[in-house]
Amino acid sequence: MKFDFKEFKNNLLEKKSPDEILKVAESANLKKTLNAFDLIMLGIGAVIGTGIFTIIGIAAAGGPESVGAGPALIVSMIIAMLACLFSALCYSEFASMIPVAGSSYTYTYATMGEFMAWMIGWVLMLEYAIGNITVASAWSGYFFEFLKGFSHILPSWLVNPPAYLVNDYRTAVSIYQNSGLDPAVEIPRLFGVIPIAINIPAIILVLIITLLLVRGIRESARTATIMVFIKLAVIFMFIFAGMFYVKPENWTPFMPNGFEGVISGAFIIFFAYIGFDAISTAAEETKNPQRNLPIGLIGTLAICTVVYILTSLVLTGIVPVEKINIMAPISAAMSATGNNWIAGFISIGALAGLTSVLLVYQLGTTRILYAMSRDGFLPKSLQIIHKKYNTPHVITWVSGIIVVLGALFMDLNVSAELCNFGTFTSFTIVCIAVLILRKTDPNRHRPFKVPFVPFFPILGILFCGGLMIYSLFTLGTSAILFPLWVIIGVIFYFAYCYGNIRKIKKENSSL
Ligand code: ALA
Repeated sequence: MKFDFKEFKNNLLEKKSPDEILKVAESANLKKTLNAFDLIMLGIGAVIGTGIFTIIGIAAAGGPESVGAGPALIVSMIIAMLACLFSALCYSEFASMIPVAGSSYTYTYATMGEFMAWMIGWVLMLEYAIGNITVASAWSGYFFEFLKGFSHILPSWLVNPPAYLVNDYRTAVSIYQNSGLDPAVEIPRLFGVIPIAINIPAIILVLIITLLLVRGIRESARTATIMVFIKLAVIFMFIFAGMFYVKPENWTPFMPNGFEGVISGAFIIFFAYIGFDAISTAAEETKNPQRNLPIGLIGTLAICTVVYILTSLVLTGIVPVEKINIMAPISAAMSATGNNWIAGFISIGALAGLTSVLLVYQLGTTRILYAMSRDGFLPKSLQIIHKKYNTPHVITWVSGIIVVLGALFMDLNVSAELCNFGTFTSFTIVCIAVLILRKTDPNRHRPFKVPFVPFFPILGILFCGGLMIYSLFTLGTSAILFPLWVIIGVIFYFAYCYGNIRKIKKENSSL
C-alpha cells in the first residue's frame, strides 16, 4: 500500500470539535452549585502541600543538582506565581468554554489535534503520577519527623530506621555521605550487585491510597474543606510562632547564589503552585463561571502567594540557609527553636495535608488515563470497571504501580523537577491553544475571556517556557529524563496509538 502523506498529516492534526466534546459533557448534566468561595477551597486543597512543607527547603538551600535562592526565595515565589497567573487565566477561558474534565488534554484535542493531545496527556502523567512520587517521599520525611516526637516511648528501630529502608537510593547515599559513612558499606546489595534502598513508608502509603480508590473512596467536599483549614492552621502556627525567632542577620546575603539561585528556586518552587488547574475542571459545576472562575483562580493564587511569602520569610529568618533541613524543613525549623510540641503539630498537619494531595492527584491520574484510553490512545482493557465497587480498578492499580516503581528509582528532587517540566509544558500549550482558538473560532461563546489578548497568553508562554528552557540547560538528571520521556511518548504514539485509533474508527464506521 502506498504511503499517503496528506492523510497521515490530517490524521495527526485531526481535532475533536468543542461541540462534540460538549455533547458528551452535557449528558452528565451536572448541577451548578459552586461559588467563588467553594472554588478557592478546592484550589487551596489541591495546591498547598509538598511544595510549602518540603520543596521550600530545596528551593532555599539548593538540592544535589541545583543551587538555592537563599532568602531571595520570596522573589522566586513571585516569579513562579506570575507564570501561574497568566496560565490560570488561559485555563479559565477554556474551562468556561469547554467545561469538561480532562483539562489541558481536552483543550489540546480541540485546538491542535490528535498527536499533540496524546503528547500533552503523556506529559500530564509527569504532573500527576510522577508528582505523586514527590508527595509520597515528602510524606515519609514528615512521618519520621513526627515519630521523633515519641522517641521516648517508641522502639529506636522504628524512630531511627536504617536510611536505606526509608529513602530511595540517591537520598540514602547522600544521607550516609553527609554523616561521614560509606554508602557502599551501609547499603546492602542483592546478589552482591543491586543496591537495595526502598522508601517503605512512601510505598505503603501509595498502596493504601490505591486500595481506597479501588474501593471508591473519594475525598468529599467536606473533608477537603477540613483539610484546607488544618493545612492553613499549621502553616499560620509556624508563621506566628516562628516570627519571634527570626534573626534578620539570617536574611543576608539576600541572594547567596545570585540570579541563578533565584531562577532555579523559581523553577523548583513552582511545584508549590501546581494544582490550581483543578479549579478549571470544576467549571461545569460553577454558578456564574464568568465571574466566579477568575475570582476562584486568582483568589487561590493570591492567598497561596501571601502564605508562601510569609512562610519563606520566617523559615529563612529562623534558620541560616545552609542549615535548612530538606526533608521536613518547616517542622525541623520549629524544633530548632525548641518548640517541639509545635513542631509535632506541624508534622501532623503536613501528614494530613499531603495525604489529601496524594488522593486528589492519584484520582487525577486515573481520570486522565481513562480519558486517553476512551479516545483509543491506550488499550481498552484499562477501562474495565470493578463489578462490586464500580470503579476503574485496572487503571487505578496501573497508576498506583507507576508511582511505586517510580519511588524505587527516583528521589524527591528529580520527581519534583520532572513534574514541573511536565506542568510547564502543559501550561505553555494551554496559552498557545487560547491564541489558536481565538483565531480559528473567534465567534464561539466564551463565558470568560482572558484580558489583553495576545499579551497575557504570550506572557504565560514566556514565563513558563523561559523557566523550563533555562532549567533544561542548568539541571542534571531531570533535564535528561524529561526529553527522554517525550521521545518515548512519540515512539509509543506511532507504535501503538496511531494504528489503534484508525482501527477503532474503521470498526465504528463499519457498524
Ligand atoms: N502544589 C502541590 C503540592 O505542593 C502539588 O503538593
